[in-house]
Amino acid sequence: TAARVVVVGSINVDQVVRVDRHPRPGETLIGGSLQVLPGGKGANQAVAAALRGARVSMIGAVGDDAHAATALATLTSSGVDVSLVRVVPGPTGLALITVGADGENTIIVVPGANDAVTADVAEQHASLLETAAVVVLQGEIPVSTITAVMLRTSGRVVLNLAPVVAVGAEALRLADPLVVNEHEAGLLLQQVAAGQDVPGDDAGVADALRAWGIASVVVTCGPLGAVIADSTGTHSVAAPTVESIDSSGAGDAFVGALSAELAAGATLVDGVRVAVRVGAFAVRGHGTQPSYPTLDDVLPEVAA
Ligand code: RIB
Ligand code: NA
Repeated sequence: TAARVVVVGSINVDQVVRVDRHPRPGETLIGGSLQVLPGGKGANQAVAAALRGARVSMIGAVGDDAHAATALATLTSSGVDVSLVRVVPGPTGLALITVGADGENTIIVVPGANDAVTADVAEQHASLLETAAVVVLQGEIPVSTITAVMLRTSGRVVLNLAPVVAVGAEALRLADPLVVNEHEAGLLLQQVAAGQDVPGDDAGVADALRAWGIASVVVTCGPLGAVIADSTGTHSVAAPTVESIDSSGAGDAFVGALSAELAAGATLVDGVRVAVRVGAFAVRGHGTQPSYPTLDDVLPEVAA
């Protein structure tokens, strides 16, 4: 059987509205029709990994409201084990998403039940965390939980600091890789390198982050692909050129696919090569999880 990927993270319902352009403060815009879809960075990554052939368990929480079933629907249909997802009193996590005509999005997250993914899950699920090939985390659950899970994990930790939260240095060094987009990388560097010159290019940024003692760093650069810094140096991986329909959740498709590849034994560079193509596939389709490829889908190619 496939090696196990364990995702500890957020589960949301996404309320998505398309707009010609994003509103300015104080402005009222009329949007297109409303879509209500399963989302949450954790759930998205779990679905993406499962669709790419990994055996995936999800640790997280939903509320006791009507949104919970929507939030779990694609996890379940994709074959993710949701038996460890807690149901807690109150609302399921919610994301308010606008998607512009250019495919770019804005997202506001109301955590709801995701705040109930407390640090005790690390002890509660210790044996699962100790035997998983890859454990995947993001920044939408309490930071104390992220730290506790990282310290508990024996296998590889994929830490996607989206959004950037203040994970302590001891835990951060256990990330292999840390995955951030260019914006998040810049925020992280400012926190630590306050006052110092921040490198202007992505390879420099990835290197500067790795210099804190992180085993490996991946900086995703949207349509430009990704940059990797690891013990073998820095590597640029180009992405396929695709028409951008909806970029929301494309980063999660990347992280989920990368985690599946790493669990299957791929090197980091080879895993990122697949992940940029999975991310590009997701950008071409509406929504987050509905736009993710299975192993049967043909991924876009990188131009030679
Ligand atoms: O990365 C996209 C995701 O961010 C959405 O599904 C939304 O729920 C937020 O968590
Ligand atoms: Na998409």
